[in-house]
Amino acid sequence: MAKDIKNVEYGLEKIFEGAQDFLPLLGTDYVEFYVGNAKQAAHFYKTAFGFQSHAYAGLETGVKDRASYVLKQDKIRIVLTTALKSDSEIGEHVKKHGDGVKIVALWVEDARKSYEETIKRGAKSFMEPKVESDEHGEVVRAGIYTYGETVHMFVERKNYKGDFLPGFRKWESDYNPEPVGLKFIDHMVGNVGWNEMNVWVKWYEDVMGFVNFLSFDDKQITTEYSALMSKVMSNGNGRIKFPINEPAEGKKKSQIEEYLDFYEGSGVQHIAVATDDILKTVSEMRARGIEFLSTPPKSYYDDVPVRLDKHDHKLQEDIDQLRSLGIMIDADEEGYLLQIFTKPIEDRPTLFFEVIQRMGAKGFGAGNFKALFESIEREQELRGTL
Ligand code: FE2
Repeated sequence: MAKDIKNVEYGLEKIFEGAQDFLPLLGTDYVEFYVGNAKQAAHFYKTAFGFQSHAYAGLETGVKDRASYVLKQDKIRIVLTTALKSDSEIGEHVKKHGDGVKIVALWVEDARKSYEETIKRGAKSFMEPKVESDEHGEVVRAGIYTYGETVHMFVERKNYKGDFLPGFRKWESDYNPEPVGLKFIDHMVGNVGWNEMNVWVKWYEDVMGFVNFLSFDDKQITTEYSALMSKVMSNGNGRIKFPINEPAEGKKKSQIEEYLDFYEGSGVQHIAVATDDILKTVSEMRARGIEFLSTPPKSYYDDVPVRLDKHDHKLQEDIDQLRSLGIMIDADEEGYLLQIFTKPIEDRPTLFFEVIQRMGAKGFGAGNFKALFESIEREQELRGTL
């Protein structure tokens, strides 16, 4: 099924012709992070990423073991959860992995059916279907494990009119920094261990009914020092895309291996969030203290017009502005895309964010891999982990 990057056909509808989607996904519902201090993390995501206060659950709402802050920006909803006691699954998770993504929640029509179908196909249960209700109606949720200790939670909210989930109250704050223009989650990438990429590719195919529509081998994703392999999985309607990375042998340590060492296992490597004005979004994030990976060399930008001309695309943004912000450009047959990556957003070199603006292109910036990985290697060098 996977096609070579050079002659890939992106039309997912074509790939899915005749295929049966037993797990229709409506979109990403929320992403929940387990963190050491949710109150402070919430402040960071509001200040630096422009998320808005949305909902809260904790001691004041009758929850005894945890505190959760829900933040929103356009269609993106993140939940920051911390343990209130040491003896808890959340506390153990944070102790082992540091701050990281625990739950990638998927919005579905029927959570019970999603759970049954995936369990039947071999998924490991995290939470059996559970109905939660309040004066706004009811929500059904059920969860299964994916790679590492990461979970997919199915969320059925067609009979619910409240802000987030039963048990949460509206969170109103006097501190409300402006949004930075982040719109929705474009894709979320997982890092898995040696020889495990194909295991998880098969898991997404068999258990979730996803297809592998794009593959990159270690010859395509390599620098002088390190390498990795990646396969992109997509659900039936193309709304959910999960690339999966595995380290590959190189002269020095792959960035994926560094992640696995510090996360102590497989987990979410990066969350790509879409904007329709990357110049504005990135200037704003930089002004608010977000650190991005170092800018590619000047020669990178000298080559951009050639790469765009090859596909007859005309850059609508000012290239000098893109360069001064360190934003990278890639092009394919259908258009181009603009992207930039943050440095890890916690002390362990694990999770980071990507900001992406698609101008027709449906790829993941393969033309930028080399420049990107060289930039990551410069950071690894500083950390002594290359
Ligand atoms: Fe990405």
